[in-house]
Amino acid sequence: MKYGNNHRNVEFDRENDVEYKEKLLCLQKVDWSFLESDTQYLTHNYHPYPARFIPQIPSKLIQLLSEEGEWVFDPFCGIGTTLVEATLLGRNCIGNDLNPIGTLVSKVKSNIVSITDKPTLENLIEDVQGYLDKVTDTLPLIPTLSVIPEYTLPDIPNREHWFTPTVQEELSIVLARIRMVSSHFLRDFCRAAISAILVGVSNQAGETRYSRKEKKIPPGTVYKRFISKLRDMWSRMELYREKRQPVKAQVINNDLRVLEDFPLNLSVQLVVTSPPYPNAFDYFLYHRHRMFWLGYDPIAVSKKEIGSHLNYQRKGTTEENIAEFKDTMRICFQRINSVLEKYRFCCVVIGDSIFKKQLVENDQLITEIAKNCGFKLEVNLERDIHPYKRSFSSASRRAKSENIVILRKVEDV
Ligand SMILES: C[S@@+](CC[C@H](N)C(=O)[O-])C[C@H]1O[C@@H](n2cnc3c(N)ncnc32)[C@H](O)[C@@H]1O
Repeated sequence: MKYGNNHRNVEFDRENDVEYKEKLLCLQKVDWSFLESDTQYLTHNYHPYPARFIPQIPSKLIQLLSEEGEWVFDPFCGIGTTLVEATLLGRNCIGNDLNPIGTLVSKVKSNIVSITDKPTLENLIEDVQGYLDKVTDTLPLIPTLSVIPEYTLPDIPNREHWFTPTVQEELSIVLARIRMVSSHFLRDFCRAAISAILVGVSNQAGETRYSRKEKKIPPGTVYKRFISKLRDMWSRMELYREKRQPVKAQVINNDLRVLEDFPLNLSVQLVVTSPPYPNAFDYFLYHRHRMFWLGYDPIAVSKKEIGSHLNYQRKGTTEENIAEFKDTMRICFQRINSVLEKYRFCCVVIGDSIFKKQLVENDQLITEIAKNCGFKLEVNLERDIHPYKRSFSSASRRAKSENIVILRKVEDV
């Protein structure tokens, strides 16, 4: 059964389930393009991240397919788009991602800093402003009292290649000052802020371009950008605090395939996710410097990252790579099956990818895998995408179109 140009593979075979049929109909009436929508509201613009999805998509899915107080799970949560939307809609949520930058930001974006931490944050900003005043020749009206904390430059491969000596020193000083913050959550909030500005002050060409480009970064830039980022994040967090419902938001930093690390007692009522897809991005590479500076291990992450373009370039034929991706995703869907309540929905937003000039329709691939893992395809919605409003940015090897695949768990595996 087909519903206009926008929908393919629609299956309705649960004749007696009226409420369920209505939900599927509602899904098909939504204009999924969200052309005019603001996608950066509240905490959503805390931090850059490639291939995150626009918040309107998880929001609609959560509204239609779950109830207040239920649990929503995103097994590949990236920087927590699903989680933020769940908390705004009064759903508890849990997110998992392999990338520690993703999980740091997810945690900070979907929870709130206690108002009692504000003076500590103001002290920190004052100190960093003091370091900045020492850099710039302009004498402050009130002489700065802030003492630069003791710091050491981190042992990072090719540090000189990627960062100017001044930027290295300023980053080390800010990180040393952040370490003095005793509130664990506020410290993470500040770490997310320094992470957000880090690529911009490095010689990395861009957020998704891991090549060197010399940038003219004047002294004091790290301090200036960090203060401005923190202030912006704080004001967004205050708006978010007014709208966020009193629900739980938890974040796990895991390879989804690793069974022993997975919280087996977890039971959720909805899954909304956009998984990594083959040959598209290299999250570990784009965030390599961030991970090194924040004390994580990008090399360990690279070995476990699903879909990595770089890893696929290194090995195997297209057929072998696709077969490997399928095996990997099969394990992931088994994990998802084990935590999702029976007859509840799993929504997967995914674009196509290109493997050595061969188009791979990932929605079809995912559907086939999910069907072998206890899921049934309910509806596959094709999304009209504005070039600047893609969930996945376009490039020759990346997604040209995008689908929202709605699956329903029909058996335990
Ligand atoms: C398309 S992105 C998700 C973006 C997310 N929807 C958002 O809005 O931020 C896919 C994610 O899968 C994660 N990933 C890759 N391999 C993984 C693994 N083995 N286990 C868990 N997450 C993994 C990547 O780190 C990346 O964040």
